Amino acid sequence: MEMDATEASHFWWKEMKDSQMKTGYAVGMAVASACGALSIYAVAQSDKAPPPFKPEAHVDDLMHLNNDLNTELRKAWAGTPDWEAAETKARLVAEIANVVRYHQPTDVHDWWTFGGTFRDRARDLVKAVEGKDVEAAKNAHKELFAACKQCHDVYKKE
Ligand code: HEC
Repeated sequence: MEMDATEASHFWWKEMKDSQMKTGYAVGMAVASACGALSIYAVAQSDKAPPPFKPEAHVDDLMHLNNDLNTELRKAWAGTPDWEAAETKARLVAEIANVVRYHQPTDVHDWWTFGGTFRDRARDLVKAVEGKDVEAAKNAHKELFAACKQCHDVYKKE
């Protein structure tokens, strides 16, 4: 009797009587294919992922820019609010927070955490200005400044 490939493999599987053997084989195949998938994934990742972030500016430079943006933000919602300007500036503050995180001095992990809080509060501010709500923007800005202080209390000298 002639068998095609599918029939042959079914036949062979039935012949594997010992169920432990079947389980062992199935687990082995699953692990092997997972490893294969992972290594393909790893190669794809290393091809596509950008190299680690390398800062160029000083923390001081970023802080000056950050401070100016925050002064402009207060003006943006005073009087007749300029929400478009406020949105851009709030997003820029959030991006500065992202970058500031990578300026973590060695061994001080709180910096990364404080920088994350700074970024999260800036995101909240972005949402508040997107909602074009003056009260929400003012409150979010107050919370943002608490995040500035949290870091300054520990890391800003003098
Ligand atoms: C993750 C830590 C961290 C966060 C968050 C942070 N700062 Fe700073 N900031 C510093 C450090 C450190 C310095 C001192 C930098 C130096 O002098 O080299 C500084 C300095 C400053 C200065 C003084 C700059 C100068 O030299 O004259 C201003 C103004 C400032 N920050 C504003 C802010 C504002 C506004 C926020 C929040 C919206 C903020 N910072 C959030 C760490 C932080």
